[in-house]
Amino acid sequence: MSAPLKPLPGTSDIWPPEVYEWLELEDAARRVFPLYGYEELRTPVIERTELFVHGIGDQTEVVQKEMYTFEDRGGRSLTLRPEGTAGVMRAVAGLGLSSGEERRVFYLGPMFRGERPAAGRRRQFHQVGVEAVGRKSPAADAECILMLLHYLEAVRVRDARVLLNTRGTAEDRRVASEVYRKYFQARIDGMCEDCRRRAGTNVWRILDCKEPQCQEAIGAAPEMLGLVAGESRAFFREVLNVLEACGANYTVAPRLVRGLDYYEHTVFEVVHDGLGAQNAVAGGGRYRLFLPGQKAPVEGVGFAAGLERLILVRQALEVRAPVREDIDAYVVCLGAAALRVGLALSVKLRRCGLRVLCELGGDRSMKAQMRSANKAGARFALILGEREVADQVVTCKAMRTAEQTERPLAELPEWLTAAVATAASRNNK
Ligand code: HAM
Repeated sequence: MSAPLKPLPGTSDIWPPEVYEWLELEDAARRVFPLYGYEELRTPVIERTELFVHGIGDQTEVVQKEMYTFEDRGGRSLTLRPEGTAGVMRAVAGLGLSSGEERRVFYLGPMFRGERPAAGRRRQFHQVGVEAVGRKSPAADAECILMLLHYLEAVRVRDARVLLNTRGTAEDRRVASEVYRKYFQARIDGMCEDCRRRAGTNVWRILDCKEPQCQEAIGAAPEMLGLVAGESRAFFREVLNVLEACGANYTVAPRLVRGLDYYEHTVFEVVHDGLGAQNAVAGGGRYRLFLPGQKAPVEGVGFAAGLERLILVRQALEVRAPVREDIDAYVVCLGAAALRVGLALSVKLRRCGLRVLCELGGDRSMKAQMRSANKAGARFALILGEREVADQVVTCKAMRTAEQTERPLAELPEWLTAAVATAASRNNK
């Protein structure tokens, strides 16, 4: 394929049969999340840049290096959303929620990050996400994780592991970042260049570093749970208690920090060994997100799962979405009069729920039309020639058995519906 016809690096065209995988993941989101009282929200793909700078945090990797930002003709700085939470919070805050009011939403759609493309790392990727705004409690966090596990079960992703940690409050993090700064500064010599820089600016990012030379220092770093205040520890313990009471398995990952600055208290990731280096299928947590021009933050809990990564895991598990059935009938039309009758018949058959392709003219021979019927995988060819039109009948040929029968035109919807059902049940045996 020549370069101008290829999608941009890190983006893809999604063709059948892969598209059926997507439909299954999207259908499951629309089925499972409403069971927990969540409603679908669609927000724009472009937003003002400041929304993400304020919301996600100007020191994060996403904001510093990965956003697709451009100026529109009015000189406004706009950005293609790199994630869903900030836009959803803008929309929810725009409703003017009164205190104590709750709102639960889920969303599906493309996100954009200018990362180096790799397996499971795309520049346009797709998330299903949820946000529950307005209730600060350990049970709310636990229920969010339980719903994610329910969703993973619905999309047949087995053996995923939940990793959990706490980031405490802003005050906890102020205390902890002092501890980490001192700790890493004492060990900075053997660490990578990025981490040396981070030790002075954002120590949290060091805990996320994947460079081999940094792992020893990171592995021995103090645990966040030991650094947060008693109240934060109690909040986190209660999240774990609820998960245990509900029979959910989890692992406390004491150095899990997540790459977005809005998190507070509970943070979690779901990882799967069927993925390579990009092993997180989902991530989330509790947050306090600051919107531009607003004094009070919006608080909530949520997660997002990456559809591309779920598909990779399903491939590793050999889970496949059912492919839609073949075409039920191909209407072969010989001559202009037959074409008109054939088109009218096709519309009637489709209204009965049958999948029908109709010849659209161009004077193609019977042989060429039968070849098309074969190629489309049609179960039946419905043949209309001059004689059939004059007698108001249709010659019906079963493509797999070559059995042939003639039926009155008016009875065709009923006859084909029954014939397709019989053929399908024979195939399923
Ligand atoms: P995140 O961890 O940045 O969190 O992304 C969530 C998921 O999106 C990841 O676990 C991964 O499956 C997928 N993902 C992220 N980047 C890429 C990429 N470049 N290519 C393919 N998949 C990717 C968030 O976005 C938060 N907004 C989640 C959240 C919602 N927290 C609270 N509410």
